[in-house]
Amino acid sequence: MGRVAYVNGRYLPHRHATVHIEDRGYQFADGIYEVVTVSGGRFVDEIGHLERLDRSLRELEMDAPMSRAAMRVIMREVVRRNKVRDGIVYLQITRGVAPRDHAFPATPTRPALVMTAKSMSMAGGAARAADGIKAITAPDIRWDRCDIKSVALLPNCLAKQAAREAGAYEALLVDADGMITEGSSTNAWMVDEDGNLVTRQADNNILNGITRLALNALAERDGVRIVERGFSVDEAKRARELFITSSSSFVMPVVQLDDSVIGNGKPGSVASRLREIYSAYMTGENREAAAGVGV
Ligand code: PDD
Repeated sequence: MGRVAYVNGRYLPHRHATVHIEDRGYQFADGIYEVVTVSGGRFVDEIGHLERLDRSLRELEMDAPMSRAAMRVIMREVVRRNKVRDGIVYLQITRGVAPRDHAFPATPTRPALVMTAKSMSMAGGAARAADGIKAITAPDIRWDRCDIKSVALLPNCLAKQAAREAGAYEALLVDADGMITEGSSTNAWMVDEDGNLVTRQADNNILNGITRLALNALAERDGVRIVERGFSVDEAKRARELFITSSSSFVMPVVQLDDSVIGNGKPGSVASRLREIYSAYMTGENREAAAGVGV
């Protein structure tokens, strides 16, 4: 049996799952989304993701299509129907269908909800993490509200494509002051020259990653203090270690940034240890450690 998608109240074969041509998500990118990891058949940080989803909705004055409880039932059903044990669930909510007009529809529309699930090979990610990945830098040409998980991802797509064309896995986005904000679909971290674990403060220029939040709590429990501050491209290139985090990459060491080799060109001990800790967290071994992380 093939993949199944949930679209506005119906479970449909993935290849026949469509939305209306005047859906505001399609026409204006007027929508938000979440990507939730499934590990061993369980969601990782489900509540954190749903809280961030609610926050994105609030910030865009968009209504939730249904209660959180109902959404959680559908998440489970999508995972079940797609037989996903390890993978991701994708949730997208748009403002709905209305005649094309930039302003919000005068008569409130029914928000559109789409959910899909797909299996993901954990082995592929583990192999990539063992070698470490290459990243490039790219100008951050996004808007001022990158804290909202909006589907308006064109600048992110352009940066990721530039990375692909350079034979790299990720593009780290750089603001006008030469500071790294985050990756095109990940948060950026480094171990600086003095050995401090550093990640940018969660302001409106980055998405406050759920993986970032969980790792914050897990690292602290492991006795590692995190310094939240911005860091420049120059500093990143001189760092002992560089890595990225997200719900699909987990903790991924970066061993080359543009033409600069990071550290000794191999994944560093801090990133490797944090990946181990995070993997244990995903499979439930120390899940309570980061429980209750807010967004
Ligand atoms: N990306 N920053 C950006 C711009 C992102 O798109 C993401 C997630 C993150 C990390 O957030 P989290 O830890 O909550 O996954 C940071 C998802 C995985 C995606 O777009 O596929």
